[in-house]
Amino acid sequence: MTIRIMGTGSYLPENIVTNDDLARIMDTSDEWIASRTGIRARHLVKEETTAQMSAEAAKKALDEAGMKAEDLDLIIVGTLSGDYVTPSTACEVQAILGAEKAVAFDINAACSGFMFAMNTAYAYIHSGIYQNALVIGAETLSKLMDWNDRSTCVLFGDGAGAAVVRADKTGLIHFTQGADGSKGMVLSCRGRMNNNPLVKNFVKPDYVSMDGQEVYKFAVSTVPASIQKVLEEADLEVTDIKYFLLHQANIRIIQSVAKRLKADMNKFPTTLEHCGNISAGSVPILLDEVHKKGMLQRGDKLVMAGFGAGLTWSAAVMEW
Ligand code: ACO
Repeated sequence: MTIRIMGTGSYLPENIVTNDDLARIMDTSDEWIASRTGIRARHLVKEETTAQMSAEAAKKALDEAGMKAEDLDLIIVGTLSGDYVTPSTACEVQAILGAEKAVAFDINAACSGFMFAMNTAYAYIHSGIYQNALVIGAETLSKLMDWNDRSTCVLFGDGAGAAVVRADKTGLIHFTQGADGSKGMVLSCRGRMNNNPLVKNFVKPDYVSMDGQEVYKFAVSTVPASIQKVLEEADLEVTDIKYFLLHQANIRIIQSVAKRLKADMNKFPTTLEHCGNISAGSVPILLDEVHKKGMLQRGDKLVMAGFGAGLTWSAAVMEW
């Protein structure tokens, strides 16, 4: 028994901030950002929260799946930017949807978060514990950015994507996932410092910091290797895959992966032009956009891949 995606949904905040908008408030340009990353705009929240965006995406996925919130056994949200330390975003989503029966928890695997959440749902469903799961990737990254640091804040955006998965005979064929905590500091954001009476740290909140070149090196080696591994395990070739849905960090990373796999760039749809990098939200938002454009037929084979902070990575091959 495996999992099949029965419905998808996504939510992007109303406010669109273009590269030119950013150039009016900091020393940057559309040319610098677009030529190095492919990003031209991003959606940033004004009022929306991570949980609200997740719930909106989830409602669309449930509608398409023809399921009610009460049918859900499990809700997993991949996020590193929940609204609260506790409760989890998944518990907030459970309450908004009224999914009373569902077990709910978050996974923090940064840009691999949706993939790790989906793989976890697979493990529960494959083992027969649960039948129906809601898997979400959602971020409000704009609150974790130092808006005085042009090298990071221009890259990221906010949004949420969701998929409803159900026990089925076909669907997810194989996945691989991994982590390398020894390189964690190349992309980091420190949590709250201890401020108990013994320690007395009065350090200001931290923001995302990144060694972009190290992240680039990690991505262009690990992503093609993990895709090749999962294809081998599934006994499939690159040519069998209709689309490669990669985490949307940077067009140059995607081009390099395509080159290493000897695959045409037409097989790598993107959202980064209008979304920027939404970490755990990237892959499910891309999946929803590709699906809603009518680009997928039942039986198509897809690869989805996430990679990012931790460091973490995951690739999965599935039959649509
Ligand atoms: N606008 C204008 N100039 C800028 C900006 C900006 N937004 N940001 C940095 N610069 C300047 C720097 O100050 C520096 O100037 P200097 O030479 O006078 O000191 C110059 O541009 C080069 O800066 P670098 O940080 O070295 O830029 P680099 O060429 O490495 O490009 C980038 C940065 C695009 C992030 C690149 O490292 C990259 O592609 N990294 C891949 C990783 C990535 O995309 N990470 C995103 C998130 S991680 C993830 O999702 C897995």
